[in-house]
Amino acid sequence: MSISTADPITDCLNIVRRKWDQTPRVGIVLGTGLGGFVDHMEIAATFERADLPHFPPATAMSHRGRLVCGKVGSTPIVVMEGRFHVYEGHSLDLITLPVRLMRMLGIDLLILTNASGGLNPEFRAGNIVMLTDHMNFMGTNPLIGPNDDRFGPRFPDISETYSQTWRTIAADIAERENIDLKQGVYAAVTGPNYETKAEVRFFRMAGADVIGMSTVPEALIASHAGLPVLAFSVVTNECLAPTSMPVRGEDVVAVANAAAVELQRLLIGVISTCHSVN
Ligand code: HPA
Repeated sequence: MSISTADPITDCLNIVRRKWDQTPRVGIVLGTGLGGFVDHMEIAATFERADLPHFPPATAMSHRGRLVCGKVGSTPIVVMEGRFHVYEGHSLDLITLPVRLMRMLGIDLLILTNASGGLNPEFRAGNIVMLTDHMNFMGTNPLIGPNDDRFGPRFPDISETYSQTWRTIAADIAERENIDLKQGVYAAVTGPNYETKAEVRFFRMAGADVIGMSTVPEALIASHAGLPVLAFSVVTNECLAPTSMPVRGEDVVAVANAAAVELQRLLIGVISTCHSVN
């Protein structure tokens, strides 16, 4: 029996609902090197990309690519292991489909994680940075096209995308847990190349603290839907260091893996506060 409707989000929702009936409080997108987070979950259902209609096979390094449903403690959550990127040639509709699916499942907090280059000279490889804001230098926007009125308005105000309430909670948890949590502005580019030296100077002058190839499309779609976002970036290379070597993808993954343990602790702390926050 075909389940296909005219709407990819509804198609995926129907598949998930056949195996999992809980309402998740939190949705998480795990970026480069952070896939180990699901080891902390009590898993109730998993979906390979091949199980989900419209999902293409995974290609990015270190991204396994399952949708994982379950609990951390007593809190139901849904997790995307990895994401789709503009540099893979995917449409912005597909890149942001997991976020709209999570919204339809019922999440009321979205946590995005990623790997980034450090532009702020005070940031070191391995630092975790909580995003306070972003600059969209991707040259495109997932909200272009007919507005989907189920989620939000045609001209959304996105000035509070990265929820102040949740940022305060996360900063308090980091302090309590002795995690050195930096804060900063993320510049989004499409990649797949890393930046030229002139671009690094430009983005730094523009006021960006970290730079990466993801997160902003998902954050825009969440913000449009009135969904609070928390975003954490692991600095995997220092863009401005005078001695900096050419960036290598393998090193980016290795540094992200090392910082993942602390970031996982922080995420678990945030999830455990969910029952007390509206
Ligand atoms: N630039 C863009 N994206 C990145 C970088 C970078 O230096 N490091 C990890 N992701």
